[in-house]
Amino acid sequence: MAYDRILITQAEIQNCILMLSKKITATYETFDNLVIIVVLNGARQFAKDLIKALGVNLEIEYIRASSYYGGIESCKKVEIEGNINSKLSGKSVLIIDDIYDSGLTLNALLRFVKGHKPKDIKTCVLLEKNTRHEVQIPLDYVGLIVEDSFLIGYGLDYQDNFRDLPFIAALNLNTIEEDQTLPIME
Ligand code: IMP
Ligand code: MG
Repeated sequence: MAYDRILITQAEIQNCILMLSKKITATYETFDNLVIIVVLNGARQFAKDLIKALGVNLEIEYIRASSYYGGIESCKKVEIEGNINSKLSGKSVLIIDDIYDSGLTLNALLRFVKGHKPKDIKTCVLLEKNTRHEVQIPLDYVGLIVEDSFLIGYGLDYQDNFRDLPFIAALNLNTIEEDQTLPIME
């Protein structure tokens, strides 16, 4: 079995999204220049549900950030792929990611987005790992704080598997194969 127990149920995820959507809507409801940047692949499911719950006029952009190459430890280099089609200059940007772990991914994304000269940038994650982050990121919206284990489900993958689980669980480390050399996770 890939996981021993469910850490966050489907209902808990949806409650959390409702709470986040209220806060985000309260911030941006009078704005007409919001661009949401969804970090693929992990945040796709979360962003889809969150954006549906927002009462805000917005544009959506997708960007891919890769830092995990088949293991459960982040390697230090973050690659960013994809183009931002909307002009960000003078606009408000909200970056949506699935999880804040080392902080390297969000740090690289913040730097990338800043280069497009938006008016302001905020960050939203569904989960924040309860660990010592390598880079401190000023998060604006956090769904839940979670323990330091490798999580799967609701967009989070291990070697591209388990994204489709409707809940979030801790990966059962006994199921990990010895060969972790394949480039797999985003
Ligand atoms: P960070 O750069 O270490 O903060 O990690 C952020 C990225 O790594 C996230 O966007 C996730 O895609 C991935 N990630 C971090 N922790 C986990 C996990 O526990 N399960 C699955 N993916 C993770
Ligand atoms: Mg990611």
